[in-house]
Amino acid sequence: MIKKLGIPREVKQDEGRIALIPQHIAQFTGLADIFVETQAGLGSGFTDQDYEDAGAKIIYSAEELYEISEIICKVKEPQPQELEFLNSSHVLFGYLHLSSNLSLTKALLDKKLTGIATEMIMEGKEYPLLIPMSKIAGNLAVQKGMQFLEYSSQGKGVLLSAISEEKSSIVTVIGCGEVGRASIQKSIQIGASVIAIDVNEDTLKDLKNKYGENISTLVGGTEEAVNAIRSADLVIAAVLLPGRKPPVVVTEEDINAMEKGTVIIDVAIDQGGCVEGVKPNTHSEPFEIRNGVIVSAIANLPGAVPRTSSIELSTNLQKYVDNLLIENWFDKYKNNESLRPSLQIHNGLLLSEEVADSLSLTLSKLV
Ligand SMILES: NC(=O)c1ccc[n+]([C@@H]2O[C@H](COP(=O)([O-])OP(=O)(O)OC[C@H]3O[C@@H](n4cnc5c(N)ncnc54)[C@H](O)[C@@H]3O)[C@@H](O)[C@H]2O)c1
Repeated sequence: MIKKLGIPREVKQDEGRIALIPQHIAQFTGLADIFVETQAGLGSGFTDQDYEDAGAKIIYSAEELYEISEIICKVKEPQPQELEFLNSSHVLFGYLHLSSNLSLTKALLDKKLTGIATEMIMEGKEYPLLIPMSKIAGNLAVQKGMQFLEYSSQGKGVLLSAISEEKSSIVTVIGCGEVGRASIQKSIQIGASVIAIDVNEDTLKDLKNKYGENISTLVGGTEEAVNAIRSADLVIAAVLLPGRKPPVVVTEEDINAMEKGTVIIDVAIDQGGCVEGVKPNTHSEPFEIRNGVIVSAIANLPGAVPRTSSIELSTNLQKYVDNLLIENWFDKYKNNESLRPSLQIHNGLLLSEEVADSLSLTLSKLV
């Protein structure tokens, strides 16, 4: 039977991404009717006409889009104004980041819908839908950090790029996975001194082998690591415990020990953040100043470059959308090791151990 797949316009503040770009929806013809909310692609440079040419039908209100669609394919977790449109007939497919969001988790459970958290889809040990956004976020963390270090942002007035042989600035990166490695690469390219901190010693060894003299590596939690955090110009915090709320890796005491105008970017804010006391910011109001230190925690960093991000996201998303359009899709998600971790909510049941642990909720099992 032909499925009905709806792509709404993202309404999270400053979010211009769209889950699927026109080039990638044509392949679903015959498998699904595709509905796209009017202007949903504009932030990424795709017009309604582009979607119509690719075979989609444009829908002129969010309410109608949700009403006629069975599968809701979106980028970010539903915002309060979107919740009212969701019901038990929906399969919600997008980044959900539930482990830091009790009210959303409870609301989705109450709705009795099926919630698939795309950030938890696995291939072996990797998270293929998180990786491209992490690479973009790691780059943007350095870009934003440079901007916030400027005098007009109340930053230290330090240029991260080296303008002579002498390296003039220090970037400390905590958590050297996809985000961290992208930040490290970019910081080294511009000539900053880089200190990498992780709890995985193999990761640190690989970085040392790759960058040699251009990087110092430290094991997280040691006195040297604490000193490296406190003496940096820019701290990029990007730790991840998959599906869970991350640990605190920058404390209030660290912030109080930093020079005024130091910048901290908490990239892990989408999972609840890893800087003590951090609150989410937006691209429009990108940081708060705590004891003279600039703390920025933007949960949708890739939303700053929606054209690049949507193309990357859609390219990686297509094959998992394909899996939703087959007749026995639910059994496939339930029984397949790669897909199973992403099936987090179904018919009022919470199926993710990580989310249940993080939010102290009851875990259910499908029989
Ligand atoms: N804000 C955004 O827009 C945005 C975008 C993409 C990703 N993210 C988030 O960024 C975070 C990192 O994502 P990733 O893809 O790089 O994850 P990853 O799994 O590739 O890397 C995480 C790293 O953290 C390290 N780590 C874990 N605990 C640690 C600790 N206590 N101290 C030091 N290191 C520790 C791990 O060893 C690993 O190397 C995640 O929370 C992810 O959701 C945010």
